[in-house]
Amino acid sequence: MDNFTYWNPTKLIFGKGQLEQLKVEVPQYGKKVLLVYGGGSIKKNGLYDQVVKNLEEIGSQVFELSGVEPNPRISTVRKGVDLCKKEQIDFLLAVGGGSVIDCTKAIAAGAKYDGDAWDLVTKKAFAKEALPFGTILTIAATGSEMNAGSVITNWETNEKYGWGSSVTFPKFSILDPVNTMTVPKDQTVYGMVDMMSHVFEHYFHLTENTLMQDRMCESLLLTVMETAPKLINDLENYEYRSTILYTGTMALNGMLSMGYRGDWASHNIEHAVSAVYDIPHGGGLAILFPNWMKHNLKVKPSRFKQLAVRVFGVDPEGKTDEEAGLEGIEKLREFWNSIGAPSRLSDYNIDASKLEVMADKAMANGEFGNFKKLNREDVLEIYRKSL
Ligand code: NZQ
Ligand code: ZN
Repeated sequence: MDNFTYWNPTKLIFGKGQLEQLKVEVPQYGKKVLLVYGGGSIKKNGLYDQVVKNLEEIGSQVFELSGVEPNPRISTVRKGVDLCKKEQIDFLLAVGGGSVIDCTKAIAAGAKYDGDAWDLVTKKAFAKEALPFGTILTIAATGSEMNAGSVITNWETNEKYGWGSSVTFPKFSILDPVNTMTVPKDQTVYGMVDMMSHVFEHYFHLTENTLMQDRMCESLLLTVMETAPKLINDLENYEYRSTILYTGTMALNGMLSMGYRGDWASHNIEHAVSAVYDIPHGGGLAILFPNWMKHNLKVKPSRFKQLAVRVFGVDPEGKTDEEAGLEGIEKLREFWNSIGAPSRLSDYNIDASKLEVMADKAMANGEFGNFKKLNREDVLEIYRKSL
């Protein structure tokens, strides 16, 4: 195990009716609140009204930024930054999924930065300060509600990058499973693929002696695999929604990553696809991750075998580590197919015409991946296998 320091300042407020906690949390940060939300799901399901009512009860002065896109865009971040500067906003409240939260993080940091917020995303500048913000999560997927990461797309240049800083943790996040009940089946599936992928990104590392971390990762995967088939047939089930919501947060809030460095190449490869084709992140991962696994099976077959045996119930008797590992990857593909996730780029009408463009995007900062450094040819090979 490697040395580590763990720090996560986000207050997690979980469960039915916890929205009321807004009245305790928000006044600590000021009166002028910028409410940030997406394309309208919170208006349809009534959450918007409840949030506004709570804010009115504590006398907040509410400003709004709506229309944050899935795969949030720097153009929307810039609008939010201008609004914060013009109205001297004290606090931001993100009500939505990872996209709304990531956009809010960029606005919060951009509001305290003199240049263009894109500098922060491209790491030309480092966010040293940010306006305080909280979140009300409406979809289980990214973990953004309890981490400092933010992923922003520049649609003019077709670039999508992750960035973050110690100042971009939410002050608090309210997670009421009821608020996720209206997430449609496809988005529910993408979210579950995303959280499983976060666990896989952690799981594939080269550090020895991570017994406890391995078991934690495996328990999250098994939990999603046990719950997902039930949830997709019973989308308003509180228990299933709460299990998945909690799992999504735990998959990417730093709890799994203590004592080693995960890989994270598949995320980079996927971000390059969504930067060009604007597909859902979880859908892209469902297509690409098993192919990343196959491509890297030989790097450490024992790791793939362990996953196959412990999580996918593969019988290793009479098989090499590689054979058992490959069977596990095939079982993962079967599982994702069984819940309705896409399996090929052609499912999104993506053909071979822009593979080179996507590979260039993925390589923007040079070779990447901690389990196995990928070069441009590796990336192209994974894209080709995914067509
Ligand atoms: O925009 P609205 O109308 O709210 O609809 C959204 C959106 O269309 C809808 N939705 C959300 N909650 C709903 C709902 N519909 C009905 N009822 C509800 N309760 O779902 C759609 C997708 O929302 P989005 O926020 O885009 O999904 P997700 O949470 O998966 O976020 C994806 C973004 O996060 C980034 C991805 O790259 C992508 O840009 N990621 C962020 C990470 C982070 N910050 O740590 C890590 C991830 O790996 C990921 O890269
Ligand atoms: Zn992800």
